[in-house]
Formats: sequence, C-alpha cells, structure tokens
Amino acid sequence: MIEPATTAQNPTVLGIETSCDETAAAVVTGDGEILANLVLSQLDEHRPYGGVVPEIAARSHLDHIDRLVEQAMAEAGLAFADLDGIAVTAGPGLIGGVFVGVMTAKAIALAWDRPFIAVNHLEGHALTARLGSDLTFPYLLLLVSGGHCQLLAVQGVGRYRRLGGTIDDAVGEAFDKTAKLLGLGYPGGPAVEAAAAKGDAAAFDLPRPMLGRPGLDFSFSGLKTAVRHAAEAAGLLDNASGNPSGDPAKKADLAAAFQQAVGDILAERCGKALDLFRERYGKPGPLVVAGGVAANSHLRDRLSGVARAARSELLAPPPALCTDNAAMIAWAGVERLRLGLTDPLDTAARPRWPLEELQGAAATAPRSAEAG
Ligand code: KG4
Ligand code: ZN
Repeated sequence: MIEPATTAQNPTVLGIETSCDETAAAVVTGDGEILANLVLSQLDEHRPYGGVVPEIAARSHLDHIDRLVEQAMAEAGLAFADLDGIAVTAGPGLIGGVFVGVMTAKAIALAWDRPFIAVNHLEGHALTARLGSDLTFPYLLLLVSGGHCQLLAVQGVGRYRRLGGTIDDAVGEAFDKTAKLLGLGYPGGPAVEAAAAKGDAAAFDLPRPMLGRPGLDFSFSGLKTAVRHAAEAAGLLDNASGNPSGDPAKKADLAAAFQQAVGDILAERCGKALDLFRERYGKPGPLVVAGGVAANSHLRDRLSGVARAARSELLAPPPALCTDNAAMIAWAGVERLRLGLTDPLDTAARPRWPLEELQGAAATAPRSAEAG
C-alpha cells in the first residue's frame, strides 16, 4: 500500500453520505478542520410526494455523487493521493442510495490504494460532537433523527450502550407527519418549528406519552394521533378530503403545542438519563444531542435547561452538522482510522444496522490518549 500522505494520528479523510435524501461529500482532517462540506439536497425532487421516494433518491445520488466528490476535493485543495482514508455511510438507510455511496467509496479506495472505512450513519451522528471539540468519552447521547430516537451511553468509538429508545415512532417522523397533516410544508421538522414560533402552545392540550413512567423509553404514536384528533376537532382538516385547511393561526398553535409536548417528553427522559448516567459512570454527563431533530432551537433550549438543572451541560453540534452531512461521516472515519478500524472492500451495504452491533475499540480511551 502507498504510504498515507500524513501521519496516522492526523489523517485526512474523504467522507461520503447517500443514505437518505442528501447527497453529501466532505473532507475532514484529524485535528477537526473541515476542508470541504458539500450537501446537495434532493428536497425539490421529493416535495411533490410529501416524503422521500427511495427510487428517486437512489437515481439522484447516482447522477450527482461523482461531481460532488470532485467538487469537495477541489474545494479542499487536495488530490486523491493526499487522502489517508475513504469513509462512507454503509448503513442503516435506504439501500439503493447506500449502495451508490459505498460503490463510489470503494472505487476510490481501490484506485488509490487507500483504507476503506464503512461508517454506521448513527455513529456519524453520535461522534459529531467530538469534531472540533475536546469532548471525551463517556458521554450521554440523545440521538433524534428521522428514523431514530435513542438514549445511549457513548463509551468509545464503536462502543454504545443503549439506555432507552422509542417503542414506536421516531421524533423526526412525528415532526414530519405533523407537518404533513397540517399542510405546513416539506421537510416537516423545520416547517413545524417555523409555524410553532408564531403559535401559542397553551391553545391545545396534548398528551405526553410515557412521562413519569419508569425506564428511559419513548413513545410518540399516541401524540401523533392526538394531533390528528385535535386538528379534526379544530376544523383544520377538510371534512371530505381529509386535506389540511383552515386557519393558519390555529395551525401554528397546534404546531407549538406539539413541539412543546415533544420538548416535555425529551426533557423528562434526559433528566432521568443524566441521573442514571451519573450513577453508572460517576460523571455528570455531558448530555450530547445529535441527529436532524437536534437542529430544533426550541428543543435545544429545553435540553440545555435540563442539563443545567442536573449540574451538567448540553453539547449540540451546529445545526448544519446535526442534519445529514458528510463531514460527520468523514470524522467518524478519522476516529476509526486512528484506531486501525478499517474495513475490507467486500463489506456489504446494510439497510438495518443497530449501533450495538458495531465493532469498536477495545477500551475507552480519553481523546488525548488516543491522539497521543
Ligand atoms: O438526521 P437526519 O437529517 O436524517 C436521518 O438520519 O433521519 O434527520 C432528519 C429528521 C427529519 O425527520 C426532519 O424533519 C428532522 O430531522 N428535522 C427537524 C428539524 N430539522 C430537521 N425536526 C425538528 N426541528 C427541526 N428544525
Ligand atoms: Zn441522519
């Protein structure tokens, strides 16, 4: 193998992300510098359908990924020979799209004789808070995205302990369905947040499923149903078609009430999780929030209040690194490469890939020890 261009502890990694509806390529260095971070959203292609259409997504990734990688490399001012590794989301996700990214990354790794790193998309979200910060293991993670809602103890790279999770819908899904129901637009999360900012949360009384129950699980399907019933009762759905109609101010109120309920649920569960984390790990946190829903500023405020109350702190990556991007994949690649965790070129793309199945580092090491 050709000698990598820079030292192993400060590798420069190309990251590729194609697991959902963003085609993304980024270049990140071992000291956390983002040399390029390009995200091509497919929003316009999926908007007419009110959700992501897997076949359209895969075709669109295929159409754009080569050019986007080229552009990211040009922006970073690097040639492929300058890279120390190629990292790519190998799952979980929409399999057609994941294939496109994995094949692209493998081709580059093979052609340039560079290590290939198959990154779990959730691990990408989970490690983002360490990008450009001195956050050390272990930490408490609330992972909230379109497909996931989990509380995890992050013990090290590849070492995740699940403390709780949703028993039905993911939070992002609840945001997306609420937006669709109320006709607020697509994508749902930002649309609900924008509407909620103009609404009065006290105007509707919505349930907080699981609140006060033992354990650290979540449930959002009852809340989703309650939003539908409240919308019907308030005349926000057209009786004949079931399509959204009615007063925008009332819709804003319902969006605000929904967001408030989600905030209450996440806050209560995270408060309990911080207690448990302190008990198990002898540390007050920190609480890290990651995934697309972590871009929501109301929820970030709520969670930072919870962390403060528990004499801990909330760490949340900048919103652009919360929603899907390739810098997080490149960074996970950096973390894995430093530990020698690379993958063979026959590694399969996976539609499902729970974090607990990851292979990780043998022991928890503080960041300084890993880097030294
Ligand atoms: O992590 P992500 O970009 O993709 C997945 O891996 O799923 O998360 C996407 C989810 C979507 O459900 C989207 O509606 C939600 O994150 N989201 C938000 C906000 N921005 C994105 N939810 C609430 N408020 C936001 N500002
Ligand atoms: Zn994601």
